Amino acid sequence: MDTLSQLPATTVATNGAVPQPQKGKALIKTQGLTRTFKSRKGTVEAVRGVDLEVRQGEIFGFLGPNGAGKTTTMRILTTLMPASGGTATVCGFDLRRDLGKVRRQIGYVSQSGGAEPAETGRENLLLQGRIYGMNSKEARQRAAELIARLDMDAFADRLVKTYSGGQKRRLDVALGIMHRPELLFLDEPTTGLDPQSRARIWDEVRALHAQGMTIFLTTHYMDEADGLCNRLAIIDHGQIVSQGSPETLKQEIAGDIISLGLDTQSDAVARVTGQLRDRPFVREIQPTAEGLQLYVSQGETVLPEVLRTLDADHIAIRTVTLARPTLDDVFLRRTGRSLRESNGNA
Ligand SMILES: Nc1ncnc2c1ncn2[C@@H]1O[C@H](COP(=O)(O)OP(=O)(O)O)[C@@H](O)[C@H]1O
Ligand SMILES: [Mg+2]
Repeated sequence: MDTLSQLPATTVATNGAVPQPQKGKALIKTQGLTRTFKSRKGTVEAVRGVDLEVRQGEIFGFLGPNGAGKTTTMRILTTLMPASGGTATVCGFDLRRDLGKVRRQIGYVSQSGGAEPAETGRENLLLQGRIYGMNSKEARQRAAELIARLDMDAFADRLVKTYSGGQKRRLDVALGIMHRPELLFLDEPTTGLDPQSRARIWDEVRALHAQGMTIFLTTHYMDEADGLCNRLAIIDHGQIVSQGSPETLKQEIAGDIISLGLDTQSDAVARVTGQLRDRPFVREIQPTAEGLQLYVSQGETVLPEVLRTLDADHIAIRTVTLARPTLDDVFLRRTGRSLRESNGNA
């Protein structure tokens, strides 16, 4: 039931207990989005029919190699560039008609960031606040709040041009959320950062998400998409090749792999195969030099059952490992190329 729309607007605005917006409502929805660039060298189809749905409360990742069309899609969704074709709504507003309304609801952190290097972090934040219509007191308060929250006290009053990569990125994020957007766009938030700074940005993204912000980020890092995002779309050559939670995408491809080390001189391999071949969770059994490999769905759930079965039959197990497919396996199956290599060659 949509309770929000049944309440008079004044109640929604003044009542302290504002009803929570319907969970899972689509904040981004695109159909057949395209973008073509024409230059002297010819025509580039950067985005070729993208259908996306990002729901409220998600950290949604857009994963793909360099040149896949991630930034172009994001620039369309953040109103910075018109699409060549297709439709899109962002925060419920049509991108063709309601650019201003979309802009007020979203924050955007571009790949290079938007901070003015010849000013301090705090000055950048104050200016951003004024751009979004805050008075100077509100802007000062909000800037101080973000400086404390993002742990920027030590450098907030230094010129931005003296910042490290990680410090600059934290300021970029602060600039993007200064006006408390409901939807935040982050273009490659951790590209070029050292591991420690990357982990910090991930923590910040998780903290923003915990406070109710919806986040759409692009990345060419598998571990970032895998560890940070609830759902993702994999994009290659301007087209989405796969969309879902990291878990589902990996499960669809291969299931998990249980490797058993067995006494290969005995009849153990044959007996294990006999025991497990017809079990519903086993997709495939392959003999290896050390014993057997089982391709199964939900390895961590079925592993105890596998072990119990073999134990009951007094089959000695020397070693056991459970391995999971990675998003690179997913990318490889869908495109025939490795994501790592695609990034290296771009
Ligand atoms: N302004 C532009 N003019 C011409 N080609 C462009 C322009 N912007 C992007 N492209 C091309 O569009 C494709 C997608 O680029 P982009 O969206 O930046 O990819 P990604 O962000 O995934 O690395 C690339 O082939 C790129 O060279
Ligand atoms: Mg890009």
